[in-house]
Amino acid sequence: MNPVEAMTRQPIATDQDVVRVRQLVRSAAVAANLPLIDQTKLVTAASELARNTLVHGGGGYACVERVSNGRKIGVRVLFVDEGPGIADLDQALTDGYTTGSGLGLGLSGSRRLCDDFAIETAAGDGTRVTVTKWAR
Ligand SMILES: Nc1ncnc2c1ncn2[C@@H]1O[C@H](COP(=O)(O)OP(=O)(O)OP(=O)(O)O)[C@@H](O)[C@H]1O
Ligand SMILES: [Mg+2]
Repeated sequence: MNPVEAMTRQPIATDQDVVRVRQLVRSAAVAANLPLIDQTKLVTAASELARNTLVHGGGGYACVERVSNGRKIGVRVLFVDEGPGIADLDQALTDGYTTGSGLGLGLSGSRRLCDDFAIETAAGDGTRVTVTKWAR
């Protein structure tokens, strides 16, 4: 992964953009030496979150970055949109809850698949989701 490319805002406006973000996250996970199982978990979570950005948020962007806490390294991915936001976050994080036609497992599943998971959102105020996977 080219670090400059990764840090750049990756637009999420089309299905093809979701594929590109997924590929970039995969490259970052490989470069950070995440075990294959953790690469797959992070890529799966990122794919779900990118799709949410597109479908529910009306599009936005992602940033992929390598992070370190002094002892270990990892990969962090940020998703940002300026869509309707999420009024009831507990409800949105419940397995099976959906306002669309999906399974309602994207958000809750992403939280389980990653080490750190944070959402900032409010009704009318867009959504920012950050996920991190650390190398062990
Ligand atoms: N970026 C977002 N902006 C606004 N609402 C969102 C966003 N992401 C998730 N939500 C809300 O949270 C709900 C749950 O999201 P989740 O990803 O779990 O399910 P889904 O996208 O509906 O279905 P699935 O991901 O299983 O195909 C969504 O139906 C939507 O109402
Ligand atoms: Mg979803």
